Amino acid sequence: MLVQLVTSVLMASSANALVTATGTMGVTNPTAAVMGTPINQTSEARLLSLNSINDFCIFAPMLPNSVVGDTEEEQVAWCVQPRNNARVIPDGTIQSAALVKTPLYWQIHGYGDFTRLNIAAGDQGGELDPHGAKGTGNPVGGNVTCNATGADVSYEEWMNFMSYSMYCLRICIAEQGQYTAEQVCQHEIDLMGCQWVMPGNYTNNTFTECQADAALPPGWYPQPDGSISTFHQRYTGTNTAGGKTELWTIGVTVTPSAPYSTPSSSQCTTFSSVGNGIPTESLTAGAAFTWSGAIPDPNSLSSPTARASSQSAVVTTVTDANGQVRATISVAAANASQSGSRNSGASPAFAIAGASLVAVLAGIAAVAF
Ligand SMILES: *[C@@H]1O[C@H](CO)[C@@H](O)[C@H](O)[C@H]1NC(C)=O
Ligand SMILES: *[C@@H]1O[C@H](CO)[C@@H](O)[C@H](O)[C@H]1NC(C)=O
Ligand SMILES: *[C@@H]1O[C@H](CO)[C@@H](O)[C@H](O)[C@H]1NC(C)=O
Ligand SMILES: *[C@@H]1O[C@H](CO)[C@@H](O)[C@H](O)[C@H]1NC(C)=O
Ligand SMILES: *[C@@H]1O[C@H](CO)[C@@H](O)[C@H](O)[C@H]1NC(C)=O
Ligand SMILES: *[C@@H]1O[C@H](CO)[C@@H](O)[C@H](O)[C@H]1NC(C)=O
Repeated sequence: MLVQLVTSVLMASSANALVTATGTMGVTNPTAAVMGTPINQTSEARLLSLNSINDFCIFAPMLPNSVVGDTEEEQVAWCVQPRNNARVIPDGTIQSAALVKTPLYWQIHGYGDFTRLNIAAGDQGGELDPHGAKGTGNPVGGNVTCNATGADVSYEEWMNFMSYSMYCLRICIAEQGQYTAEQVCQHEIDLMGCQWVMPGNYTNNTFTECQADAALPPGWYPQPDGSISTFHQRYTGTNTAGGKTELWTIGVTVTPSAPYSTPSSSQCTTFSSVGNGIPTESLTAGAAFTWSGAIPDPNSLSSPTARASSQSAVVTTVTDANGQVRATISVAAANASQSGSRNSGASPAFAIAGASLVAVLAGIAAVAF
C-alpha cells in the first residue's frame, strides 16, 4: 500500500451538525426512548439508548448469518434490557464493556459473540451512522438517545462499529471549542477498527464505567508546529465518461497505525458482568413475550437457566444462582389447559423476584401470573 500523510492547516469548521436531534424518529421506532417494552425478537425498531453499562443498545442485522457491510441499511436495535421495542441481547453475548463518559461524548466498547446477534462468523464488520447513502441513516431510520444530562435526549451525531467479535458506540452529546459533534463522531473512516476510531481500554472480560477526557476527533494528529494533520480514508473508483474509464482516488494512502492518544480515565467503577437475567433459551429467534422487572444489578446477576420440555406443553423454569426455582412458565398447547406458578421467597439478589411474567412463546397462548 502507498504511504503518505496529508497535513492541513486546521480550518475554522462550520458547525454543520446539530448536537441534539430535531427531526422525527425513524418509522419503526417508538416516539421516545422507553424502558420495559415487550420482547419481540423479530422487531425492526432502530432506536439505541446509551444510559449505563447495563442499559445500552447496539445495531446488528435482522437475519441470521448476515455480513454487516451488506446489511447496514436494515440493521435493527438490540438492547441489553427490554426497551425501545427493540430486540433483547441474550445474556452472555457481551464479553466486555467499557463505558467512558466524556464532556463531548459517551462511548461504550468491548468484545462479544455477535454471531448471536446475526453477524456472520469471521465478518470484520462495518460502521453504522446517521448519514448513509440515502441521508436518512445507516440503518435507515436509525436513532439514538443518551441520558447524560439526566433526561433521555436524542442526539444527531453518533457512530457504531460492529464486527462478529467487537463493538463500539459513540454518541456525541456536546460541542466545545474547535471540535464539532460531526468531527468527533465522524463517519468517514469506516474501514478502520474500533480501537483506531474510538480509543479506549479494550481489555476483554472486564466491565467498567469511567469518566474520561474526550479523545481528539478520529484521524486528527497534532503536529509539532501546531497544525493538525488529518487522515482521510482512501477511496478509489472508476469514472466512465465519453467511453473512457478513468481511475479516481480520494483520501490518503498511509494509514496511521494508532490513534493520536487514548485519553486518560478516572473514577472507574468495575462490575462483574452485564445482562438482563432473562433465560437465554427464551430469547429464540421470533420469540415474543413480556418481561417485567427492574434492571438487574450487574454485580449480582444470577444465571437463570430455562428448560423447555415439549409434550403437550412448553415449560420454562427460571432458576437462580443458588439453584432454587424462582419462576415457572407453563405455556400449554393451543387446546390443552394452561397452568403456571411463581415461587415465593425469591432472594433480593435475583432481580426479577416479584416481577410478573407473561409469556407468549412461538405462537402459543399466553399465561399470566
Ligand atoms: C432520527 O434520525 C434521523 C436520521 O439520522 C435524523 O434526521 C433525526 O433528527 C433523528 N430524530 C431523532 C428524534 O433523533
Ligand atoms: C414483532 O415485530 C415485527 C416487525 O416489526 C412485527 O411484524 C410483529 O407484529 C411484532 N410482533 C409482536 C408480537 O408484536
Ligand atoms: C440513566 O439511565 C440509567 C439506566 O437506565 C439509570 O440508572 C440512571 O439513573 C439514569 N441517569 C439519570 C441521570 O437519570
Ligand atoms: C484496562 O482495564 C483493566 C480492567 O479494568 C485494568 O486492569 C487495566 O489496568 C486497564 N488498562 C489501562 C491501560 O488503563
Ligand atoms: C473475549 O473473551 C471471550 C471469553 O469470555 C472469548 O470467547 C473471546 O474469544 C474473547 N474475544 C477476543 C476478541 O479475544
Ligand atoms: C387439539 O385437539 C385436537 C383434537 O383433539 C387434536 O387433533 C390436536 O392435535 C390438538 N392440538 C394440539 C396443538 O394439541
